Amino acid sequence: MVGGSLSRWTMSYFAVAIAWLIAAEALMAAGFGFPNADLASPDTLVVVHMICIGWLSMAMCGALFQFVPVLVGKPLFAARWQLPALLLLTAGLVALLAGFMALGGYLPAWLWLLPLAAGLLVAGFTLVGASLVLTVWRARPPIGPAHFVLAGLVSLFTTAALGGAFSWALAGYGGQAFGALLESGIPLHAIAGLGGWLTLTAMGVSYRLLPMFMLSPDVGGERSCMTLFAGSATVGVAVAGGLLAIGTEAGINLVLGSAAILAFATLALYGRDVIALYRNRKRRRLELNTMMAAYGFTSLAAAALLGAVLVATGSFATHVGAFAFLVAFGWLSGLILAKLYKIVAFLTWLEAYGPAIGRAPMPRVQDLVTERRAAKWFALYFVSVWVGTVALLFHKAPAFRYAALAIAIATIGIVQELIRTRRLAYVAEPLRLPNGTRAPRLLYSRT
Ligand code: HEM
Repeated sequence: MVGGSLSRWTMSYFAVAIAWLIAAEALMAAGFGFPNADLASPDTLVVVHMICIGWLSMAMCGALFQFVPVLVGKPLFAARWQLPALLLLTAGLVALLAGFMALGGYLPAWLWLLPLAAGLLVAGFTLVGASLVLTVWRARPPIGPAHFVLAGLVSLFTTAALGGAFSWALAGYGGQAFGALLESGIPLHAIAGLGGWLTLTAMGVSYRLLPMFMLSPDVGGERSCMTLFAGSATVGVAVAGGLLAIGTEAGINLVLGSAAILAFATLALYGRDVIALYRNRKRRRLELNTMMAAYGFTSLAAAALLGAVLVATGSFATHVGAFAFLVAFGWLSGLILAKLYKIVAFLTWLEAYGPAIGRAPMPRVQDLVTERRAAKWFALYFVSVWVGTVALLFHKAPAFRYAALAIAIATIGIVQELIRTRRLAYVAEPLRLPNGTRAPRLLYSRT
């Protein structure tokens, strides 16, 4: 079961992550950054990192603090590091955004903010990573979802190291080597971050959560292992080959082409397993979270198809923004929002009613949500993301802003539902707070 013991600060990570998401969506709706500014402009970098670090990485870290201990059957190593890590990551992200604003001329040219930010972010991610890796290390589980998380964490450190090198180079330190990295290494940083850290980790987590939420038989360690190896090889070839190509001043296209082929193999293996999990489920009626997760998987497949078509027609570079948007919002954010809907309900149930199990009649987890109300927000979310992708493909900046506005409204709608769940607003009396139970706090868990 998810959450044998509750992670105190997971809800705080989720809350901070959601705040960054809504702020980034508001900026996109206001026309800040791509497509109104260049993809590599400071404005775009602000929005990209609010989403990649503030939203996606924070939400993933919060979920992993809860999930990894359950996965390996051991308590979290140094759970007290969670709050300092959250503070370091938040301070680092604020400094990074301020550094980008300085680059863009919104602030005085305080470029030292960039290396400072990199230091704070690396320190925060190190606390998160050390806590998770040592938790897995103490349990030494057979190869499975926990190893996806480890591969994801290696990618996270690669991303942060490359980001750190860029920051030093942009601040005018670091010499020729960092300069060469900044010139050609940005695709490697993006692949390690979106592909290695976020996608591999999301895949590993879904190998465990989908069977649990749909009552499907596991696909088996061997099959998930193949996906893990193919996925790790993709990121390994892209990053190690890319660094070698940059170091030897050879072209990077051959490396990226080979990584793309491996990425397709990974997605094919993963897709086969996800389809098997849905097909073989015992719970015939899908809950909203698994239905919406399916739209996330569809977006991943659509992104793979789009990437292939763009490469085949030689227009990938022109449309990389649309491709990255579909990966970040359709696949990663879509899946995370869908899973948050279930995880928040489950953790809230465990916190409120766990202490009274067997002592009083109590509601079911599903009584904490009203799926009908949330479904319309999820529908608006996914449709707007797909419309936004098409708008980017056809360079229709005003249409993209309307899509971004709709995405922001849908996100706020979903978040309202999460808050109602947390407040037990949908649980009918007298089951709501039987003897021996307390309403949970909104932003952290009583452990
Ligand atoms: C220690 C953490 C990080 C630091 C210091 C950092 C820093 C940077 C810098 C300085 C650039 C700009 C390079 C340039 O064009 O001049 C950049 C680009 C980028 N970063 Fe990060 N980054 C970090 C983490 C991440 C993470 C975790 C992700 C994704 C999960 C990510 C995704 C990206 C992407 C997609 C770009 C390219 C954006 C574009 O060209 O519009 N970064 N990063």
